[in-house]
Amino acid sequence: MAEFNIALIPGDGIGPEIIAGAVTVLDAIEKKFGHKFNYTEVDMGGVAIDKHGTSLPQETIDKCLESDSVLLGAVGGPKWDNVPASIRPETGLLGIRKALGLYSNLRPAILKPQLKDASPLKDRIIGNGLNVMVVRELTGGIYFGEKRRAEDNTWASDLEKYSAEEVERIARVAFESAMLRNKKLTSVDKANVLESSRFWRETVEKVSKDYPQVELTHMYVDNAAMQLALRPSQFDVIVTSNLFGDILSDLSSAISGSIGMLPSASLGATKRGMYEPIHGSAPDIAGMDMANPIATIESAAMMLEMSFGLVDEAKAIANAVDKVLDKGYRTGDIMSEGMKKVGTKEMAKLISEEI
Ligand code: IPM
Ligand code: MN
Repeated sequence: MAEFNIALIPGDGIGPEIIAGAVTVLDAIEKKFGHKFNYTEVDMGGVAIDKHGTSLPQETIDKCLESDSVLLGAVGGPKWDNVPASIRPETGLLGIRKALGLYSNLRPAILKPQLKDASPLKDRIIGNGLNVMVVRELTGGIYFGEKRRAEDNTWASDLEKYSAEEVERIARVAFESAMLRNKKLTSVDKANVLESSRFWRETVEKVSKDYPQVELTHMYVDNAAMQLALRPSQFDVIVTSNLFGDILSDLSSAISGSIGMLPSASLGATKRGMYEPIHGSAPDIAGMDMANPIATIESAAMMLEMSFGLVDEAKAIANAVDKVLDKGYRTGDIMSEGMKKVGTKEMAKLISEEI
């Protein structure tokens, strides 16, 4: 029996519904394995702008720092499209990543056999399924580089800058991930044009000396995008910068079928991580009990495994999800002929009952 403190950030749109779904499933894990999870709910994103005038209140940062881990729904929505950039929902997300030191972002894109039809790619391309891990650098690069705008508004710039330390530590995360998988790592950059990419490539090469069993290749980002669409099975682990990782992880999740299925983990130097679905806040279906809670439920499973070391518990969740899909239950986003359509609550309940 173990006890853990979890900060919950439901956020905006469908966020509160999918977080509730994940908690339903975590309740079942508590019961089955005799653990205790204590929750503290905090505000971030649009809801925090409305309540506190900022997307990331200091109290949210403090509560997250006090917790063992953070589970996040989603933030943002059209309602806050016109607020100043400094308090935008997205700024809150970037701020919490930085404040918690979460420099690595693991985004697995897996196509489950039950959902083969959901991929937009042809059968001959998908072949034996799809399993790619995108390791994205999360607290550096152009996202956090110096931003400037001319006083007379005739130009603006964002700086892409990486230190050796930043590249090294994300490279290590990627090599470690590859060691646990098929030992193939593709480092993606734009070294034919960008100095920061040439530096990235050299630094990854240096780190590779410590991982002789991993087969390292380098690929330009434009080619990587094309290869993901044409022959995704060539990839095992991809490591890349903040911006390229943002783009490629959307692509890799899209080819795996439903973005509603994919979890992610953001980690730093400590065990504390932040776990969230890859998808956004889907304001168009918010409050309608239609959202797919599986990405958030799988994110909770990643939290159990990676932050708490609860491997069997994480497996229990994964197995339960598989069984519910095997039985033909589907939310609208992954619905196909002959399947049984269920809502957010029902899907979470079915998974928790399976546990
Ligand atoms: C993501 C999102 C965020 C990002 C936005 C909302 C700031 O697109 O997590 O991929 O660009 O990192
Ligand atoms: Mn993104």
